[in-house]
Amino acid sequence: MSAGAGEDTAARRVRGRFITFEGGEGSGKTPQSARLVDWLSARGIAVRRTREPGGTPGAEAIRDLVVKGADGRWSALAETLLMFAARDDHLRQVIRPALEAGEWVVCDRFVDSTIAYQGYGRGLGRAAVDDIAAVVVGDTRPDLTLILDLPPSVGLARAAARRGTETRFESLDRTFHDRLRAGFLEIAAAEPDRCAVVDAGAGDTDAIFAAVSRIVAEKLFEEQSGDG
Ligand code: TMP
Repeated sequence: MSAGAGEDTAARRVRGRFITFEGGEGSGKTPQSARLVDWLSARGIAVRRTREPGGTPGAEAIRDLVVKGADGRWSALAETLLMFAARDDHLRQVIRPALEAGEWVVCDRFVDSTIAYQGYGRGLGRAAVDDIAAVVVGDTRPDLTLILDLPPSVGLARAAARRGTETRFESLDRTFHDRLRAGFLEIAAAEPDRCAVVDAGAGDTDAIFAAVSRIVAEKLFEEQSGDG
């Protein structure tokens, strides 16, 4: 016999899954994450789509400070702290409550972007980013990270074609973008269970989404059925 209804629900409520998309400029994260949310919803999963920096009013205000304006307006450390200030707000107000309620969260960018952009790209180093992440992020780590990989020349051309006012990082030189690509690939190599690299340079959106959805099904649905 089951226990009381409330107890039964609490016992059955499992933490939602946390999926992040990462990649350089023009890598196509935004359309891919939108499609993944539709695909998960169509399978009956409660899912929330969000982004970084952003996702709450406060974090969106910080986003304006970091993605707009002159390249030299922040030191590498100040830029990193702004990313983490936005992330702290986002984690407290959106990500952790959603996961605890059993919702899945699909987020455009997370800590790996700070490691790649500020750690590798700006040259702050990985150790400083990891130390701050230990305090701000703690255990709230993604279950799966999809790294959309493509040559910076291709991504920057795509980004330039849809250029708006958020150009601070796009305007950096090619060596910056080469460093951050290398950074993402190192992250993936170090954590192969969490990270999957998707070739986003070749193929159309449908072909790339076919790869994305296959990885999500393999990594998260099989694990889920294994949970009982
Ligand atoms: P978006 O292009 O994915 O919307 O992201 C906005 C910009 O912010 C993008 O150029 C990458 C940059 N960024 C960082 O430099 N560090 C971070 O931690 C995050 C989340 C984004």
